[in-house]
Amino acid sequence: MENIHPTNIYLTRDDKEKYLNQNAKVIWITGLSGSGKSTLASGLEKALAEKGFFTQVLDGDNIRTGINNNLGFTEDDRTENIRRIAEVNKLFLNCGIITINAFISPTNDIRQMAKEIIGADDFIEIFVDAPVEVCIERDPKGLYKKALSGEIKNFTGISAPFDRPEDPDLIINTAELSIEEGIKKAFEYVLSKVKRN
Ligand code: ADX
Repeated sequence: MENIHPTNIYLTRDDKEKYLNQNAKVIWITGLSGSGKSTLASGLEKALAEKGFFTQVLDGDNIRTGINNNLGFTEDDRTENIRRIAEVNKLFLNCGIITINAFISPTNDIRQMAKEIIGADDFIEIFVDAPVEVCIERDPKGLYKKALSGEIKNFTGISAPFDRPEDPDLIINTAELSIEEGIKKAFEYVLSKVKRN
């Protein structure tokens, strides 16, 4: 960009990863509302913390209430939501921190954009798979009820699209696995990526 000159940095990402004794990665959990993304994210954070890993969870609670509090749920706003989140992830990566993201990120295009901004090597995509019928049944926030009655428009899985990820690194089927089993499966996969040899 014109007249913008990023300055040199003193500590590199590798220095910071060494300091933290971990490989920084972006864990990107995608899935419908109510599929179990946040539950998996916090369980994974706990499991990693118990082994000494340093993480940051990013989800609607800390992103849509703050940096993205001016965005809604149109296709353009969701794209901008994820674009900013991906840029925030890059900053954490450069700090050597493992991030755990829990966003619907509903389309292949949106997830592809995130992967390109972050870099494919650092991007671990976990699809939390639960049929929409199961999510409607759970309806933890009462939002499906409102979406089905038309009170909320553009609701993912009801009146807005959700593309099943084409080639995720991992699928956690929360309709079939218990919460603990899902966390264990994700933890084992992630551990192999974040562990320094
Ligand atoms: S994303 O599509 O832009 O990735 P994000 O994960 O940030 O979505 O936010 C989804 C959360 O916002 C849902 O879990 C739900 O609590 C809330 N929400 C409010 N309106 C909608 C909507 N129209 N579609 C989906 N989620 C919504």
